[in-house]
Amino acid sequence: MTIMKTMLLKTLADTMALGRLLGQCAQPGDVICLDGDLGAGKTTLTQAIAQGLGVPAGDYVTSPSFAILHEYQGRLPLYHMDFYRLTGAADIQDMGLDEYFFLSGLSVLEWSARAGDLVPATRLKINLTIGPDDSRLLTCDPGIGTWQERWQNLIMTT
Ligand SMILES: Nc1ncnc2c1ncn2[C@@H]1O[C@H](COP(=O)(O)OP(=O)(O)O)[C@@H](O)[C@H]1O
Ligand SMILES: [Mg+2]
Repeated sequence: MTIMKTMLLKTLADTMALGRLLGQCAQPGDVICLDGDLGAGKTTLTQAIAQGLGVPAGDYVTSPSFAILHEYQGRLPLYHMDFYRLTGAADIQDMGLDEYFFLSGLSVLEWSARAGDLVPATRLKINLTIGPDDSRLLTCDPGIGTWQERWQNLIMTT
């Protein structure tokens, strides 16, 4: 069974709080997929995930768009990827980026749809859309892995 969940993030603070919780419950080898329009909050959410992982505040660089991959060291390594400038799965494979999905850190993928079937089925998939004022509507698909239970626990905390 796959559960789909939606959540209204009313303010930037709500997004940051959720991201920190995600970072706190991340486990080695996790993959979090972030999709949604430019400005929807994917990089912002990743920054909060980095905080939750204990990445030192000064280490975080805002957007990996030009570098495609940034790696940070927290409680676990964080592999922050942004596929915006890539055309598709072939690019990602050519660059060997999909190998990171199976390392012992946390992979966070912006524009993850570009990676297609390369993304493991155990991922947590999050889509963000821009709402009125500073709100964001989050849609989440925890996939077939342990994110199902973790997502349930997490929303009870928020
Ligand atoms: N509720 C919110 N959640 C996330 N970002 C928000 C929110 N409200 C305002 N923002 C702002 O929207 C922008 C989102 O930009 P960014 O995270 O770079 O988006 P993306 O990576 O999806 O293109 C940031 O300037 C952020 O401060
Ligand atoms: Mg971004």
